[in-house]
Amino acid sequence: MSPQEAVDWPALRAAAREVMTRAYAPYSRFRVGAAGLVDDGRVVVGCNVENASYGLGLCAECGLVGALHAGGGGRLVAVAVVGPDGEPVMPCGRCRQLLWENGGAATLLETPAGVRPMTEVLPDAFGPEELVRAGD
Ligand code: THU
Repeated sequence: MSPQEAVDWPALRAAAREVMTRAYAPYSRFRVGAAGLVDDGRVVVGCNVENASYGLGLCAECGLVGALHAGGGGRLVAVAVVGPDGEPVMPCGRCRQLLWENGGAATLLETPAGVRPMTEVLPDAFGPEELVRAGD
């Protein structure tokens, strides 16, 4: 069984819903929670944290990726992101890029339209492998 086939989606969604309740979103009132299954079996979570300087708000996925690295790193196998109603929300464009960097093409994302691979939600992605074209 591949890591993706072993995903306990209800448990991942429950973790996202729980951390969503701890979001700091006094400006938008739109609480978001994100939970990711790591390839070593850990589950890492994050919630959005807004700021009076609106443009500085941090998405839930930013917290998730920070927790991934702070907890020892690894690759994201599957990610669930939920909004204030506890239902899946699509990550914003910036956060899809974050998930691509820390998971990759095969990482699965639970979306309002069902579970989909990153290749579907971020087609033709720019990723780290492009950087080999950098000059000296
Ligand atoms: N938000 C996230 O946390 N993740 C996303 O992928 C979409 C948007 C947050 C940012 C802001 O705090 C609130 O949702 C409303 O945009």
